Amino acid sequence: MSKEVTEPRDEFQELLDTLPKQRHFDGPYRYHYKDFWCSSYAVRGIIPFQRHFEAHDSDILLATLPKSGTTWLKALIFSIVNRTKFPLSQSPLLTTNPHELVRFFEFDLYSKDEKPNLEDLPCPRIFATHVPYNALPQSIVNSRCRIVYIGRNPLDQFISYWHFVLKNQYENSETFSLDEGFELFCRGIQNFGPFWDHVLGYWGASIESQKVLFLKYEDLKEDVTSHVRKLAEFMGFPFSVEEEKQELVKQISNLCSFENLKNLEVNRVGGRLVPVVQYSSLFRKGQVGDWANHLSPSMADRLEKIMEEKLGGSGLTF
Ligand code: A3P
Repeated sequence: MSKEVTEPRDEFQELLDTLPKQRHFDGPYRYHYKDFWCSSYAVRGIIPFQRHFEAHDSDILLATLPKSGTTWLKALIFSIVNRTKFPLSQSPLLTTNPHELVRFFEFDLYSKDEKPNLEDLPCPRIFATHVPYNALPQSIVNSRCRIVYIGRNPLDQFISYWHFVLKNQYENSETFSLDEGFELFCRGIQNFGPFWDHVLGYWGASIESQKVLFLKYEDLKEDVTSHVRKLAEFMGFPFSVEEEKQELVKQISNLCSFENLKNLEVNRVGGRLVPVVQYSSLFRKGQVGDWANHLSPSMADRLEKIMEEKLGGSGLTF
């Protein structure tokens, strides 16, 4: 998806030269930085993020692996927190992609500016990241900010990523077959992965600390409204009796539903997150279990065994 860029030689390039690298299934290299795999572009944002970000106790941070429900959660968190500021009929979500409303540290805020001014943002500040728990800046770990994590079944996450790569390719970029991509995934080589380390990092944190809420995509699909309430309480914005009477929980769930967001003009036509990522590619099927249409039973068995081995004893299952 992201094309190999010839970077100017600087401290980042010197660091990249020392890191193990592997081709990712979208073509370009991923670098093994601090025990996880990521693109050179991400490393350039992650380092200043780790160095300079100062968390506030009131901050809300969404953490995910790509293709796990990030866009959905950005929309839900933004809508819950800002519901008194914007009536739902005038929600910025109706005209703005969720990624513009809740921005990524590594791809956006710190990739454009080494020290962005984040102090003037309205409170609570809401941010997003794909960075694993162990690589978050100390100021986040030490603060009382709240972290919402959403994980997804790895088979569906892999297939979702696979389609995302197909849709957002540079012309002529070298890509891998589905089998080769799956092989890399099973070896832990994926953006911000291995998968198991990423989910276990946040899972462990959610057991140790009340400031981390661990959600699963599949649970939200099954019952979104009870999760909207749970999220609101966790973030310190519970629904009042009056709001419950007005069915605000249902209205927010509907506003942020796959069908609604996918069909909004802003998400259908033209918009792009970075030059190659079309907004429309963020909304594909939004289903649980689509992997079965693409992966053989033996591939699924293989990944399920890996998951049993890696997650075994943690209490976490997908
Ligand atoms: P599929 O490719 O399986 O359809 P992310 O936002 O982390 O990139 O995740 C993208 C996945 O979430 C895609 O999955 C996408 O269709 C799905 N998705 C996007 N918006 C959604 C929503 N509002 N509700 C449910 N799923 C959504």
